Amino acid sequence: MTTTHRSPVPPEIAAVDLTDTHTFVEQDLTEMWRYLRAECPVYWHPETGRGPGFWVVSRYADVRTAARDVKRYTSERGNSLDMLLIGTDPSGGKMLTTSDPPWHTSLRKLLLRSFTPRALQVIVDRVRAATDRLVAEAAAKGDCDIAADVAAHVPLATICDLLDIPDADRATLLELTKSAVSSENPDATSTDAWMAKNEILYYFAELAEQRKDNPHADVVSLLAASEVDGRYLSQSEVVLNCYNLILGGDETTRFSMIGAVDALLEFPDQWRDLRGGEVDLDVAAEEVLRWTTPAQHYGRYATEDLEIAGVPVASGDIVTLWACSANRDETVFDRPEVFDLARKPNNHLTFGHGPHFCIGAYLARVEIQAMLESLRRHVAGVERRGPAERIYSTLFTGMSRLPVRLRPA
Ligand code: HEM
Repeated sequence: MTTTHRSPVPPEIAAVDLTDTHTFVEQDLTEMWRYLRAECPVYWHPETGRGPGFWVVSRYADVRTAARDVKRYTSERGNSLDMLLIGTDPSGGKMLTTSDPPWHTSLRKLLLRSFTPRALQVIVDRVRAATDRLVAEAAAKGDCDIAADVAAHVPLATICDLLDIPDADRATLLELTKSAVSSENPDATSTDAWMAKNEILYYFAELAEQRKDNPHADVVSLLAASEVDGRYLSQSEVVLNCYNLILGGDETTRFSMIGAVDALLEFPDQWRDLRGGEVDLDVAAEEVLRWTTPAQHYGRYATEDLEIAGVPVASGDIVTLWACSANRDETVFDRPEVFDLARKPNNHLTFGHGPHFCIGAYLARVEIQAMLESLRRHVAGVERRGPAERIYSTLFTGMSRLPVRLRPA
């Protein structure tokens, strides 16, 4: 039996529909999250036309505790609200993100081989060179869109390098990735997303087939030609894990890179510190990650009756963990509503926590640091040149367009 409990919250909070992509574009949820953290940290979101009710966990400590508990919470029925509301995820038990131990542990061990700083060295060098070139070109142009002119080209190219995707296919993959997860179009339907996802899977099936007979030094070949727990991966396991990398690593990192420029526009003192060389880029990248939190939540199903902060949660309930709120938890972060590139410590939950901690975190950090470093080197000043456009998604948050004027250094 799942929970049918109601949480007593003011009507304006009860009216916020977290299953609707428009909510995240059209409403400022800052006050809602503040209220929930203070008064109702484990909130029962009522059912909507999109699915059953679910728990909304908003405090840092509770998000962290639940994220590391892979025994009492499963990821196999999905880890994003959209999939959890459907109740089943076809990738469950196959794809890294939507697997539980022991399979998850073995598969992660295999994939980690491709994600050590040493294995990534060549790719990291390319990220730095490409970002530097793109920012220098944008600065020379003056008026530009940070999303289209810079950020669109870095993370996807990086994952394509990891997967050794031919150059000719990269632009199509970017378009498909955009429709598969988030949307720049408020009227996009789940059918659009479903079709884009299928096209990506079909593409990887063909590529994996070629690589099985002719392996390269890339992740597709690693997945297609390695044994895990004494057997080769099935075609769908290979394909879904390629898909996991492209979807997990492209948009998220893009939104952080774009969000970094937006935050620097909103906090000119931070721009001055960055330009003045007063900022440690490793530390600054962590603040960009906390500030932007591109994956707003991660979700699970409870596998047994349990309690979160004293609130009973029934086995089979959907539990959503909101990193965007945890990263603004005033009991953990001093002045959380301030973008502070020198913030330290900064143990944000942007990459999740525990056994599912983001496998691409090192790569994402390199990309964001490269963005900050290139801005510092090539740009003397930045101003807005039109309204930013936000994406429509319940999972991801970020901008698909950020028109600015850059003054070259
Ligand atoms: C896992 C966020 C970049 C691939 C995760 C999780 C989060 C996350 C929150 C945990 C999900 C959960 O617990 O259910 C982000 C953000 C990024 C980023 C915000 C950029 C700013 C990347 C990159 C890649 C990647 C660059 C790959 C190239 C993955 C994979 C997992 C994962 C495969 C599953 C790990 C597992 O289940 O063991 N990411 N990610 N991510 N991420 Fe990332």
